[in-house]
Amino acid sequence: MYELMAPCHFGLEAVLKREIYDLGYEITMVEDGHVCYEADDQGIVLSNLCLRTAERVLVVVGRFTATDYESFFQGMKALPWERYIPSDGRFWITKATTVKSALFSPSDLQRVGKKAMVKRMSEVYGIERFPETGPSYPVRLFLYKNVVTVTLDSSGEALHKRGYRKKTGPAPISETLASALLMLTPWREGRILADPFCGSGTFLIEAAQMAANMAPGLGRDFVSMEWENLISKDIWKEERKWLKAAVDMPERAYLYGSDIDRTMIPVARENARRAGVEKLIRFKTADVSEFSSDRPFGFIVTNPPYGERLSETEELPDIYSRLSTVYRGLDRWSMYVISAWEDAPKYLGKPAKNRKIYNGMMKTYFYQYPGMKPPKGYFDDRDL
Ligand SMILES: C[S@@+](CC[C@H](N)C(=O)[O-])C[C@H]1O[C@@H](n2cnc3c(N)ncnc32)[C@H](O)[C@@H]1O
Repeated sequence: MYELMAPCHFGLEAVLKREIYDLGYEITMVEDGHVCYEADDQGIVLSNLCLRTAERVLVVVGRFTATDYESFFQGMKALPWERYIPSDGRFWITKATTVKSALFSPSDLQRVGKKAMVKRMSEVYGIERFPETGPSYPVRLFLYKNVVTVTLDSSGEALHKRGYRKKTGPAPISETLASALLMLTPWREGRILADPFCGSGTFLIEAAQMAANMAPGLGRDFVSMEWENLISKDIWKEERKWLKAAVDMPERAYLYGSDIDRTMIPVARENARRAGVEKLIRFKTADVSEFSSDRPFGFIVTNPPYGERLSETEELPDIYSRLSTVYRGLDRWSMYVISAWEDAPKYLGKPAKNRKIYNGMMKTYFYQYPGMKPPKGYFDDRDL
């Protein structure tokens, strides 16, 4: 068994916790920005392939306290690196994050940490120089109040990089954040979902993959696919095979994207095609004010401009007022808006719920306007 640690967006730990629980693993700890749980080698594979809201899947190698570089060196050297890294493995400390700790220089932690690893492995393997020609083992360190958590990154490229988004607009939402926000809404497969500021189509593509029960990692590779000393290649093969077989493409879905920027629509379509869900989403060029529907129930989940380009700032009141007018014309619909613009409620109205979410360093708000619940057993069977 391994202790795994999955970082996520601050404020969305509960969503990731649910996903991990649904995969069948025991949660051991939930802290700001990550969830820890126990799993075996198959768990590393399934987590990378299936988790929609985790940024990475890290294998915890150990924890120790360090207040100076000597204790840090000794702590790193005491860890059983040879259990994880073979003598030809390529290893380096790819990132060190430190909060409220005596040791705060990432570059020094990277340098001293690598030295300690080399020392340990030299003693165990009886070699001085490591060829580093084999598989890659990136190490990530987290220091919090002088406790060093040492992990191996089994994902490599962050998990929000699903592989389908080759092009985006200027302010795309991350795929993991889009998925987590969708999971916070009652939207489910078979219900109408519209994003009238769809940009590169992220919300709708994530929703379509959920509707098709398509694992988000099927379109990409992971660094731990090289870790044959820890995970047999057969596990990757088998799990990919089962997950592909589990894809259940609905005949159709009720997913609609529009954007005023006509150059974004071909980008969104191409991204949807790469994601394997183009037949489930309809995209078109339109101003938000053109959005309307006579369907009784539906969801708007969207990420309008929030002033990321200075030129936009003065247009925001007008854009949000138009969205508000559209929403008022959809009387039983629900609306969920993520925006960094604090004045949004002035134009959209007071939300029933407002959740603070960090998108990297940027504070954003998830304004929630739940509509009426449809009667039990209600399914959409018509277009907008
Ligand atoms: C923050 S971006 C959305 C990014 C999108 N979620 C993604 O993942 O790519 C805002 C989008 O709103 C679009 N937009 C701006 N004004 C608009 C309007 N009046 N009507 C419709 N779309 C508009 C922009 O072209 C931009 O693509």
